[in-house]
Amino acid sequence: MIRLENVYKIYHMGDTDVHAADGINLHVQKGEFVSIVGQSGSGKSTIMNIIGCLDVPTSGKYYLGGIDVSTMKDDEQSEIRNKMLGFIFQQYNLIPKLNVLENVEVPLMYGGIPKAQRRKRAMEALERVGLAAKYKNLPTQLSGGQQQRVSIARALVGNPSVILADEPTGALDSRTGIEILRFLQQLNQDGNTIILITHDNSIAVKAHRIVRLYDGKIIYDGPSDDPQALVQPYEEEHFSEDVILKGGGKA
Ligand SMILES: Nc1ncnc2c1ncn2[C@@H]1O[C@H](COP(=O)(O)OP(=O)(O)OP(=O)(O)O)[C@@H](O)[C@H]1O
Ligand SMILES: [Mg+2]
Repeated sequence: MIRLENVYKIYHMGDTDVHAADGINLHVQKGEFVSIVGQSGSGKSTIMNIIGCLDVPTSGKYYLGGIDVSTMKDDEQSEIRNKMLGFIFQQYNLIPKLNVLENVEVPLMYGGIPKAQRRKRAMEALERVGLAAKYKNLPTQLSGGQQQRVSIARALVGNPSVILADEPTGALDSRTGIEILRFLQQLNQDGNTIILITHDNSIAVKAHRIVRLYDGKIIYDGPSDDPQALVQPYEEEHFSEDVILKGGGKA
């Protein structure tokens, strides 16, 4: 489903190069539930943006459902993004002026799907997240957990091949966060491919597989119940002057 081959993302900052992705090889099969985990600055968002077709690698290949998307132009990228990917963000990213139903319909607007069918599919997605009764509410009239469920309905409505969740519980209290994670596990049991991005080990372990990033590299890729999956490199707990000066990037 997802294949990254020797992917680099290099930012030129003055006379230094930051290797935000430093030779990433990653394979995710249909139906997997994978956490991408790592400390701040390890490259999670960089990888998420590439997988999500929001950015292209400096070099290397990215195949999504067998299609090479690493060299696509913006408009081609947005088309494939719409067809194949569903996004869940930390801050929900709902449109404040649209009601719940209209928010869930948004991904279907691009596909030229007739209004009646859009409504029907959006209502079905809302039923799946248990919020059909609130379809007329504005986002501000919902709790944080409910808003996140609306954003999950929006991610599901286009029947995407892959769901990308970036710190989906970051803005929620722990109890609501656990509910959202259970929901993602349920979606995975229903056959959805899920990639969860987090800095938090206790959230990462909800997936079957953990991919740990450090300094733009994969330093662990395996089962989430292997004790090795939770080991973070030594330096990150010690903010020595040296580490702060280097900013975690490439010296
Ligand atoms: N546009 C940019 N220009 C220059 N450097 C960048 C840019 N975006 C990211 N970086 C650098 O690339 C590295 C990886 O950043 P990234 O945002 O992927 O980290 P992250 O793991 O998502 O961190 P966080 O948990 O804080 O969100 C960092 O060193 C960062 O400073
Ligand atoms: Mg990030």
